[in-house]
Amino acid sequence: MKYLTPEIVKNKQILMRVDFNVSFDSKGQISDDYRIQRVLPTIKFLKKNKAKKIILISHLGQPKKEDFWTNQFSLKPVADYLEKTLKEKINFCSLPQIDDIKKEIKKSADGSLWLLENIRYHLGEELNDKHFAKELAQLGDIYINEAFSVSHRTSASLCAITEFLPSYPGLLLQEEIKHLQLIKDQPLQPFVVVLGGAKVKDKLPLINSLNQKASQILVGGVMANTILKAENLEIGCSLYESEVLSQAKDLDFSNNKLILPGDFVVLTEHQERKIRDFTQIQAKDTILDIGPIAALTFGKIIEKAKTILWNGPMGKIENPRFQSGTKTILKAIIQNKKAQTVIGGGDTISSLKFKIQNSKFKFSDNIFLSTGGGAMLQYLANKTLPGLKALE
Ligand code: 3PG
Repeated sequence: MKYLTPEIVKNKQILMRVDFNVSFDSKGQISDDYRIQRVLPTIKFLKKNKAKKIILISHLGQPKKEDFWTNQFSLKPVADYLEKTLKEKINFCSLPQIDDIKKEIKKSADGSLWLLENIRYHLGEELNDKHFAKELAQLGDIYINEAFSVSHRTSASLCAITEFLPSYPGLLLQEEIKHLQLIKDQPLQPFVVVLGGAKVKDKLPLINSLNQKASQILVGGVMANTILKAENLEIGCSLYESEVLSQAKDLDFSNNKLILPGDFVVLTEHQERKIRDFTQIQAKDTILDIGPIAALTFGKIIEKAKTILWNGPMGKIENPRFQSGTKTILKAIIQNKKAQTVIGGGDTISSLKFKIQNSKFKFSDNIFLSTGGGAMLQYLANKTLPGLKALE
């Protein structure tokens, strides 16, 4: 891999892939800006070293074809937010044709900063289409991947693009790898992995390889529901991912490393919050958090860990009635100051924010907050990240 230097960026038009796939609250405001904040030093580095123009590309969400070029997945609110944060004009470009974008950028003054509309509005992006990547490459002199958190996807703006431009890893991407490498190679034991949240399709296939390194894997969220469902246990109306049920059936429980919650917090058909043993879930219940006994058990395991990896909340943290499992995990992680800890994933970081804002907890230096969720897990499970491979 070649690395960025001030000489490389000087007078160059920079095409930089970032991951501004941030979460929004019910009022449409950005609820967690961690991924944006972490890219600011790179933008400042490029400006300081006199990059000619900077063109940022990002995705937002997983739009289907019928959503293309609608407001629902638009990056415009991110452009506005970036403009306020950087106190600098952001040229937001929602033109669908790359040729037209190129003309617009050409007209702009040197030093200008651009953010293009959601790159997933182009069919070629997720197909890793070479023609699209070639067109996109016309927008820059050099390409930077500053999107570690989406580098597990084989997309044109991460992979195929590197065939057409001199390509470099961004400063944040390098920092992510440096930190994750520490626990990838020789994690101190006990190594405890905490997995929750959604996107089970991405995470579940990694459990067996994480199993080889970890001493325990504690599972909550939609991931736990999916495993219970695969075991033919009643999960009522709870969310689960049907595509991975057969993979969930094949999980290796033989070494007792994989630990599922023994109790859950459910919402009953009468909208009551109830605690239920995992064998007592009713057909009209919805599981929305891990139960207090599970939270206590998980907390005790985390207390003794020397390495911790956490991705995904334990329940529906947007609702204060279902935050307690996630809060217990967070508290245990923060209190374990001996462990080398990595926390990652958009929703996980948001869940930290609600806790930190409302409490006296502070992060110590033993904790690294990764911008990656699925990418981080895939990297630590020794899987190749296509976006990183493309930079080699
Ligand atoms: C993420 O949020 O994990 C990254 O932005 C990747 O998003 P994706 O799962 O929609 O590809």
